[in-house]
Amino acid sequence: MRKPFVAGNWKMNMDSHTSVELVERIASGSVETAGHSVTVAVCPPFVYLQAVAQALSTSGIAVGAQDVYFELNGAFTGEISVSMLKDIGCLYCLCGHSERRHVIGETDELINKKVAAAITGGLLPILCVGELLEEREASQTNEVVTRQIKGGLTGLSAEKVQALTIAYEPVWAIGTGKTATADQAQEVHLFLREMLEKKFGNKLAKSLRILYGGSVKPDNITDLMTMPDIDGALIGGASLEPETFSKIVQFQK
Ligand code: PGA
Repeated sequence: MRKPFVAGNWKMNMDSHTSVELVERIASGSVETAGHSVTVAVCPPFVYLQAVAQALSTSGIAVGAQDVYFELNGAFTGEISVSMLKDIGCLYCLCGHSERRHVIGETDELINKKVAAAITGGLLPILCVGELLEEREASQTNEVVTRQIKGGLTGLSAEKVQALTIAYEPVWAIGTGKTATADQAQEVHLFLREMLEKKFGNKLAKSLRILYGGSVKPDNITDLMTMPDIDGALIGGASLEPETFSKIVQFQK
């Protein structure tokens, strides 16, 4: 049984005051569910991670970073290491979010190093994959996510991959209000699970959580969650509003 997982990706939003206020309200709204029937995490900007982690310390809600660097320490100006994130109470980190791939220019090779470093250092990576609109229209979705999964997981053993969560986020659905239908998402999730099975075996493929992301809202979460291979959601815009995020966390399957 895979426990549902709902994670909020705040992107480059909030400030020191509103970030703590947001998680305090989420914690009071989701207290029944958080840490029991649903895994819940929030991913604030780096500079607010510590305050958010402190505010959530007794809540059962985990904290994740939006990115991480793969080197242990040293002359890497502007970067943040796995051990720094662990030091301030982070458990998860996003790797290869579509905005990092398509706005910042991250490659599968770099993302692979980040995923590997996160797992080795004890963080739980959420590897994001997903196709552009033109790739979907050219029927290249499976090819694109295959390349991103194979590239992102190069050199990792099944044992290491146990620490992983995958997020399927079609780029055309992120921040656009256009959600993939539950059937469209399920089709890709099943494809991903079958690919993982070929690569790492049935047991691992059955245990890995695959989240859907892209314009998830309280009114479409239930549909998505009824699909057998959709194990949760990565939420952008709707994670910035405490009642909305809490409603998503408390979806009814
Ligand atoms: P969205 O973002 O929910 O605002 O579409 C999802 C994401 O980028 O993870």
